[in-house]
Amino acid sequence: MAAVVKPPEAPAAKRGGLRAWLYKRLPIEEFISTQLTGYYAPKNFNFWYYFGVLSIVVLALQLLTGIYLTMFYKPGAATSFESVQFIMREVDYGWLIRYIHSTGASAFFLVVYLHMFRALLYGSYKPPRELLWVIGMLVYIALMAEAFMGYVLPWGNMSYWAAQVIVNLFGTIPWIGPGLVEWIRGDYGIADATLNRFFALHVVAVPLALLLLVVLHLVALRRAGSNNPDGIEIKEKLGPDGHPLDGIPFHPYYTVKDTVGVGVFFVLFAIVVFFAPTLGGYFLEHANFEPANPLSTPPEITPSWYFTPFYAILRAVPNQRLGALLLLLAVIAYLFLPWLDRSPVKSMRYKGWLSRLFFALFVAAFLGLMYAGLNPPEGAFVTLGRVCAVFYFAYFVLMPVYTRLETAKPAPERVRFHAHT
Ligand code: HEM
Repeated sequence: MAAVVKPPEAPAAKRGGLRAWLYKRLPIEEFISTQLTGYYAPKNFNFWYYFGVLSIVVLALQLLTGIYLTMFYKPGAATSFESVQFIMREVDYGWLIRYIHSTGASAFFLVVYLHMFRALLYGSYKPPRELLWVIGMLVYIALMAEAFMGYVLPWGNMSYWAAQVIVNLFGTIPWIGPGLVEWIRGDYGIADATLNRFFALHVVAVPLALLLLVVLHLVALRRAGSNNPDGIEIKEKLGPDGHPLDGIPFHPYYTVKDTVGVGVFFVLFAIVVFFAPTLGGYFLEHANFEPANPLSTPPEITPSWYFTPFYAILRAVPNQRLGALLLLLAVIAYLFLPWLDRSPVKSMRYKGWLSRLFFALFVAAFLGLMYAGLNPPEGAFVTLGRVCAVFYFAYFVLMPVYTRLETAKPAPERVRFHAHT
């Protein structure tokens, strides 16, 4: 049983004057002393632990630039495309704000994918962090909805046709499908009504849901505490002061470490924003520089790179209904990981070779699917998509078997960490 740790007393409580007055009414200092200086995190965090804080940074960046864009963007089939051109050419620094927002969308998925990779690597989804993981997945699904609807807003030709393809997927649901598609669009095709509702959802509803889910994610993290590369619970070994022996105060140790990560991130981010904002068509697609045209289908309808693994799974089978079902399963499979993994250890460091093999194949399959989905659905790309889809699902479906079959190495009692000297 973990001993109750008394949070350090905030200095303002002992003083008089304005600070004490404020402290009695607004316990900011208490919050800092319990959540930052008094919060002990494992001392062996590594590179992979940068991406949680980077997700918060990108979220803030998207909210700020999004508010600014909304001041000038005019939703509507007749006005959207031109208002984006106006932002790019006429609004002071409008090009910068828009490129930060469009690059931010890709950066968001990049950091979230790396954040999720870390959780898979170190078994952070396993008890007692199941709910933290499930809430994280809800964040991810909200993020997918947010990115998809945002992509429709400039009303470029790819916006239009991607919306057409994705909304039609709901038509594959038995019985209610066709009615549901019409209800989502608000019209008989992708039209002005669709664009306006996507605007409302992208700007108000989904960001609110995202914020709420991120707060819940962090609250759940505080309950279990962070996992670490060794996958052992630091709360189980407390020192005489009641703090974990393998823990260090989040502030200043991790605030300083994270500042370095955020700095490096901003340098890389700025290089893309200033020198390659379209990133050769991966971050902003060429077809989206033309206005939406229901009479002209782009030669290849491809979603943004972060959706292509799932798009390749959709196209891996000829039957569209089965493809849509596989796509759904490919996304929700992660939700079941805490119960599929039967290994006695959390971290890949101590799992057996079967777990390592299936995980390596899964990562290769994810990247292979991403590549296949970016290319036309013909010849070798279809075969690649199919082979990768098999390895992708094998990771989840066979997990209860291979995590029990293999022999795990014994995890150490204390975290393995040697400070730099
Ligand atoms: C807006 C998106 C997100 C934000 C802002 C966010 C934020 C954070 C932060 C700040 C941490 C603690 C620092 C760290 O461990 O890196 C964390 C931990 C964690 N997050 Fe997220 N997260 C997001 C999305 C996700 C998603 C999509 C998942 C998985 C589906 C996820 C799963 C986890 C897990 C399992 C941990 C604990 C990891 C460990 O202690 O090893 N998060 N998150």
